[in-house]
Amino acid sequence: MQKAWCYEEYGSKEVLKLGEFPLPTPLQNQLLVQVRAAALNPIDSKRRQRPIFPSDFPVVPGCDMAGVVVAKGSRVTKFNTGDEVYGNIQDFNAEGKLKQLGTLAEFIVVEESVVAEKPKNLSFEEAASLPLAVQTAIEGFETAKFKEGQTIFIVGGAGGVGTLVVQLAKHLYGASYIVATTSTPKVEYVKNLGADTVIDYKKTSYEEIEEKFDFLYDTIGDCKSSFVVAKDDAPIIDITWPPSHPRAVYSSLTVSGENLEKLRPCLENGKLKAEIDPTGPYKFEDVVEAFRYLETGRARGKVVISAFPSQHFPSLVSCESQHNLTPEMVPLEMSVY
Ligand SMILES: NC(=O)c1ccc[n+]([C@@H]2O[C@H](COP(=O)([O-])OP(=O)(O)OC[C@H]3O[C@@H](n4cnc5c(N)ncnc54)[C@H](OP(=O)(O)O)[C@@H]3O)[C@@H](O)[C@H]2O)c1
Repeated sequence: MQKAWCYEEYGSKEVLKLGEFPLPTPLQNQLLVQVRAAALNPIDSKRRQRPIFPSDFPVVPGCDMAGVVVAKGSRVTKFNTGDEVYGNIQDFNAEGKLKQLGTLAEFIVVEESVVAEKPKNLSFEEAASLPLAVQTAIEGFETAKFKEGQTIFIVGGAGGVGTLVVQLAKHLYGASYIVATTSTPKVEYVKNLGADTVIDYKKTSYEEIEEKFDFLYDTIGDCKSSFVVAKDDAPIIDITWPPSHPRAVYSSLTVSGENLEKLRPCLENGKLKAEIDPTGPYKFEDVVEAFRYLETGRARGKVVISAFPSQHFPSLVSCESQHNLTPEMVPLEMSVY
């Protein structure tokens, strides 16, 4: 058996409890991954609070993870046991249900197409902080067809997604001028991420900003007010649903290992950095406290969970003895890590 955080009814963070689950068995195209770090996203809270996606209880929350491959299905081609991988496993089946349990568990199964090799220069915690937020951040630029040399106004430069939007604008998409908003204590922090100008939203309203921008990227769902800083023909991206202004286009994300792989050069040369909220990483046993903090809406970068219990002991023995393997499910390789 393995430990995993779960809930059996919708509600506040108090419905979260630590449960025991059988070790999942990888199908032919899947990996069994020993999770070494995970990250929380607002969707994990929203999904726990109300039935956003059809879910069967108990639900194990968590989309993001970094860990070590400990077993693989017979049709896996890209990865081997011992490989360090990371990814967002929020992948749906044809019925619109999540394909597997979430990442706040010691072990998860995941299709190989959904993960990428962890860049060697990143810790498990850094890698786990990235997938969902960076996939979201990229999709907004792509949806807006952002071009090098354009100007960008980012609403919410300090959050999980916003910290990456600022960095991508600077280092990947070549924005000529980057303006981002945040509250007073985080102004210097967002400047250091790469914003040319940081607007303290506690002191300055959108109406007071004279310039107009080629692209408005709103990460907090404030388009009903922020739209005034966009040029008349500028794309406005809102990553919250539903968008709060008729001109705003909702942008979501693509769950794939490929889009993470494309970021490898940027991550390896250190230009794109994982931003972990300084209150963390939280220990696995402190997941409820980590959710409490995330739900304040004040996180700076990502809320990360670390120190999963299984990392203190080998996994092979328990894997082999507890898998109820059928011939088509038999993993080709299993190892101890
Ligand atoms: N469409 C998708 O696929 C997708 C993917 C990921 C996330 N989302 C959604 O996008 C939203 C943001 O996600 P996230 O992970 O970035 O959340 P997050 O990390 O919890 O965001 C927290 C940040 O929001 C900032 N903030 C709050 N109010 C603000 C305001 N009025 N102006 C500027 N900044 C403000 C806070 O900065 P201060 O403390 O300075 O206020 C804080 O740093 C959530 O609603 C999430 O569900 C959608």
